[in-house]
Amino acid sequence: MTNVPEQDRVLIFDTTLRDGEQSPGATMTHDEKLEIAGLLDEMGVDIIEAGFPIASEGDFKAVSEIAANSRNSVICGLARANLTDIDRCWEAVKHAAQPRIHTFIGTSPLHRAIPNLTMDEMAGKIHETVSHARNLCDNVQWSPMDATRTEWEYLCRVVEIAIKAGATTINIPDTVGYTAPEESASLIRRLIETVPGADDVIFATHCHNDLGMATANALAAVAGGARQIECTVNGLGERAGNTALEEVVMALKVRHDILPWTTGVDTTKIMHISRRVSTVSGFPVQYNKAIVGKNAFAHESGIHQDGMLKNAETFEIMRPEDVGLTASNLVMGKHSGRAALRDKLKQLGHEVGDNQLKDIFVRFKELADRKKEVYDEDIIALVGTTADQTDDRLQIVSLKVLCGTGGPAEATLEMEIDGKEAIATEHGDGPVDATFKAVRALYPNEARLQLYQVHAVTEGTDAQATVSVRLEEDGVIATGQSADTDTVVASARAYVNALNRLLVRREKTGPGTDAREVSYKDVS
Ligand code: KIV
Ligand code: ZN
Repeated sequence: MTNVPEQDRVLIFDTTLRDGEQSPGATMTHDEKLEIAGLLDEMGVDIIEAGFPIASEGDFKAVSEIAANSRNSVICGLARANLTDIDRCWEAVKHAAQPRIHTFIGTSPLHRAIPNLTMDEMAGKIHETVSHARNLCDNVQWSPMDATRTEWEYLCRVVEIAIKAGATTINIPDTVGYTAPEESASLIRRLIETVPGADDVIFATHCHNDLGMATANALAAVAGGARQIECTVNGLGERAGNTALEEVVMALKVRHDILPWTTGVDTTKIMHISRRVSTVSGFPVQYNKAIVGKNAFAHESGIHQDGMLKNAETFEIMRPEDVGLTASNLVMGKHSGRAALRDKLKQLGHEVGDNQLKDIFVRFKELADRKKEVYDEDIIALVGTTADQTDDRLQIVSLKVLCGTGGPAEATLEMEIDGKEAIATEHGDGPVDATFKAVRALYPNEARLQLYQVHAVTEGTDAQATVSVRLEEDGVIATGQSADTDTVVASARAYVNALNRLLVRREKTGPGTDAREVSYKDVS
């Protein structure tokens, strides 16, 4: 059957925009989702799971637009096992040149108990829903959620039903990250050997990382016969996350001698998408994260440095360039012009429009005035910063802070709120606390601070700090970012950015209508 790829080719199915985005707090805006989908398409990801169209109007619009803009990738949407979900999913993905419907149901005893269905009733539902999806779309993926904890006989039975009903891909999720490599390989191998019709479909593996084995389990599943790996950029996802795209792709490339399968991913695009996903999701990449962590290619210890100078291969199994990491360059100074900045941005993987360039250029000049040496990382931080918008309801006019030993910190903040200027002075436990209190004094709100995080962009005491702030109110979540050589200023901007985004999101959806309110674990 044409659906089955060549034996040594593994399809990469990216679910950053669905399973990744479902991670509490990782919400992305519409434009950010479109940008990430564009990058995934461009880097050669075979299938993009763009979202869960029934979850909200926003998800539906994002999936529809990603589908309409897609070039090479198959665009997939998720649907629970009911006809309304599947119809809504089809309405969104049908705009793609290559659409796919992904429908699922929890088949393990614990998951069967939620909709309170008997084994027979569930089997009937699977037949009905997969047939319905297949009547709409000739590319249908079906998943028995929590497959690794589903009784073997029942798993074989439902997989056979889904294949007979027209599923073209059978995904075997390890929903709670419970399996281990040998078991993962043998489960897929036995399913392919046992289930009638298995040779005509692609088997996929979808692993969560609760025990830190998601990458190993996914690769083992491929050894067992799976030809589609489901993964996310940076391993983003609920709890400990999903299999990391960059890890499986690089493992298959670097250890091709013992893992003889290939992907279609251009690995030189990995660093750029990793940084963008980290920025827009507000989820930092741990320093020692495989492939994309800040230290993944750094050789700090004396012994390592000595070895590296003699021969890079002493401690490096892959080259930084293979994942798109270039040596940090001292970029430009305050005399550099707009064209040079555009060139530099392009080199760093950012194609920006005229308006965005104008905005980044202004901030670049401000930075170059204050900071003698501006590096690539500084430019990347400027792009990652949520730029202040002239139509933002809350704008910072000025901020003065007194802090140090001998008393509480004091922040005097002047803001323009809906066009009116106001000023407040507040005290706090340190300058950031005082500043955030001043924002709340000027704009009282109930938003809960879920995350406050600071990173130095480069070395040195004049380094920019990038600050991420995540706020939550009535189930609506918004993240703001800012970068500045003054950590308190960056913090204030990130906080106000997050508040502005929260206000927009609340205006659009109203309280309590966030996508996460529709549990993807419910069947109907
Ligand atoms: O982890 C899981 O089981 C899922 C399914 C919806 C495929 O994400
Ligand atoms: Zn999952």
